[in-house]
Parts: sequence; structure tokens; C-alpha cells
Amino acid sequence: MTSSDMPAVLPGDLNEINAILDGVEANISSSLDLPAEDWLGQSGPFKSLDEFQTSSIKSMRELLRYTNVKPSSRVLDYGCGLARLALPFSGYLDAAAGGRYTGIDTDASCIDRNAKVFGSLDHFRFDHVNLFSTMYNRGGKKSYRSIKRKKFGGPFDLAFLFSVFTHILPEDCDDLLNFLNRRLVPGGEVFCSWFLLNPETEDRISRGTSHRPFPYTHGSVRIDNAEIPEGAVAYQEAEVRERLARAGFSNVQIHYGKWRGDIDSWVWQDIVTATAG
Ligand SMILES: C[S@@+](CC[C@H](N)C(=O)[O-])C[C@H]1O[C@@H](n2cnc3c(N)ncnc32)[C@H](O)[C@@H]1O
Repeated sequence: MTSSDMPAVLPGDLNEINAILDGVEANISSSLDLPAEDWLGQSGPFKSLDEFQTSSIKSMRELLRYTNVKPSSRVLDYGCGLARLALPFSGYLDAAAGGRYTGIDTDASCIDRNAKVFGSLDHFRFDHVNLFSTMYNRGGKKSYRSIKRKKFGGPFDLAFLFSVFTHILPEDCDDLLNFLNRRLVPGGEVFCSWFLLNPETEDRISRGTSHRPFPYTHGSVRIDNAEIPEGAVAYQEAEVRERLARAGFSNVQIHYGKWRGDIDSWVWQDIVTATAG
């Protein structure tokens, strides 16, 4: 199957999703270099290139299941890291039908590397944003003003953020949500992963049955490491809903992840999808 004749699927149609993913895997060019193995920590806890590649397909599967992504979609991969998702998208998007991909990250070396690897694909672009993070970019700017007016190849039908809001503090959260809402077409979708706190997770954390303890507080959120607050951040679910609404998002859907412990789920972090207004 070629990318242009891959059908869009309704969320939840698993056979269809698996057929699409078979086509995606077959379409990924073997000439696209994978990152150096000692760099994989940038994207997540991957021990090998195999794990990195498998996880890229797994994450694509989540997008196919929980969003209306199509080969003609204009997609924004915010906090793209080592372009883990650009791999499956290179085998999925149909440039002739308008499909295109933008990856944005605070890490300039990742962006340089991604731009080189995907340089032969005209419908792919990568942009550096010099924003501050104790975890990822200590030399960056503390304000989102520098990126407020840039289009980054938008507008977009879908913005996705795998493990990015899990590294964003409350003081920056509204700026990022507003940025995303302004880059999406009305009715466009955001898909993002979080660690969400609610009475159930708080109870699991206090009983020691969640996979993460988040022992410190930082304003309204809980964090893993007081020295590196952006290392891992957990938000109250009610606060995330309020912030999404304030930024103009509606139709919020949540899929809880396995990090909470004792639950069967497709996902590790909690997934939130919402519609841009
Ligand atoms: C855990 S990694 C996830 C990378 C990628 N989304 C993936 O799933 O493979 C988090 C990424 O977000 C980037 N990042 C952190 N804060 C950011 C910000 N404020 N703006 C853009 N990128 C950011 C980091 O540089 C890092 O590459």
C-alpha cells in the first residue's frame, strides 16, 4: 500500500490501524539514518535503536487511534527530540495531497541532525526554538515572546507532543497552549501526554503503587527532582482542563496511562486530546 491510498480511520478501528501501520513501516526509507545510540536518552528511556524504532510505530499507532490524522494532514511535532515520530510520518504523509510535517525543539543539535537526515523530504522541516529549560536548554530565553509570531510552516491540522508537557512548568504552560491553539486551524486537534493527578493517582502515589512518586511540589504541580524542576512534572487533571479551556480548546478527552500503576492501557503517560477553537 502506498501512502496516498491509505485510508483515514475512525479512532478505535484496530484492524484498519494495523493495516495502515504495515504500510507505514514498508514505506519508511532505509536511507534515513537513525540517531547515535548514546543520544537516545534525549527522546526517552530507550536502550537500543530497536526500542527507539518500535516505540516510534507504537506512538504512531496511538495517534491513529486517538486522532483523525490523515496522509493529507499538516502536522506539528512540538518537542520532536530526535524526530522519533518523523520516521513513521515519512512513510505515511502524502505530500501531493498536502501532507506535511514540522518538528520543533529547544535542542539545536537535535534540530540540526534531524534537518540533515530528513533533508531530502521537501514536505519535512525542523525549527529550533531557544526556550529555557533546566532539563534541556539552560541557556534559553525564559519568555515565549520570541516564538509568538513565527508560523513554523503552519497552520496545522494536528499538533502532537509526546512527553513534552511532562517537562513544562506551570509558569510556561499557558504560553505553550496558546501557541499551539494559534498554530492550529479551527477544529484542529492537539494530542499531548501528561502525568495527571486526581484523587485516584494521589491515592496510588501515597500507597506507593504508582510507578512515579513525584515527591516535591512546585507551585501547583508535583515534580520528581527539586534541582531540575523540568525533569518530570505532574499536573492536577482539573488544572489541565481549565488551562486547555482558557487557551481555547474544547472537547477534551483523556486516556489514562500505565504510569499510575495497576491499570491496563495502551499508553504509558496519560494522553489528552482536544479540539482547537
Ligand atoms: C522526553 S523528550 C521527547 C522527545 C519526542 N517528543 C519523543 O517523544 O521522542 C522531550 C523533548 O522536548 C524538548 N523540549 C523541552 N521543553 C521544550 C520547550 N519548551 N519547547 C520545545 N521543546 C522542548 C526537549 O528538548 C526534548 O527533545
